[in-house]
Amino acid sequence: MSIEKFSPDQVAAHNTDEDIWMVINGKVYDITPFKDEHPGGEEVLSELAGADATIAFDDVGHSTDAVNMLDDYYKGELEGEFVSGSKPEAKTSGVSNSGGSSAINFLIPIVLVVAAVVYKLYLS
Ligand code: HEM
Repeated sequence: MSIEKFSPDQVAAHNTDEDIWMVINGKVYDITPFKDEHPGGEEVLSELAGADATIAFDDVGHSTDAVNMLDDYYKGELEGEFVSGSKPEAKTSGVSNSGGSSAINFLIPIVLVVAAVVYKLYLS
């Protein structure tokens, strides 16, 4: 049996509440039947319908059980990649971008304030 391959555009076409495909670690899943059963709610799945959900899925720290459940919804392999920023599904890359840079964005103002306080103390 040959493995089916899907392009990012083919996956992206299944992006409604009633038709949810997503990519996790380069594999394509049709998780529509699982929508109502997902312990994390159907909203997060709808939001990532037609997109690459690898980062969101990993971020949650899903259990081995959850990872094994993916097999039930396996459709085939993704051919090509979702290029960050080139898709309307920017939510996926948004999750990764904010995840990567938020710590630095958070630290910069604190460092500035501390520097200003130290500077003032030394001046007075
Ligand atoms: C598509 C395949 C997915 C499957 C099979 C799946 C399965 C599960 C399962 C079995 C749980 C229960 C806890 C555990 O065993 O880890 C869970 C929890 C959760 N999932 Fe997913 N999940 C999927 C995708 C996603 C995605 C894309 C998100 C996006 C953020 C998500 C967010 C969550 C959250 C937030 C919880 C925690 C719920 C709670 O404990 O309150 N899941 N998921």
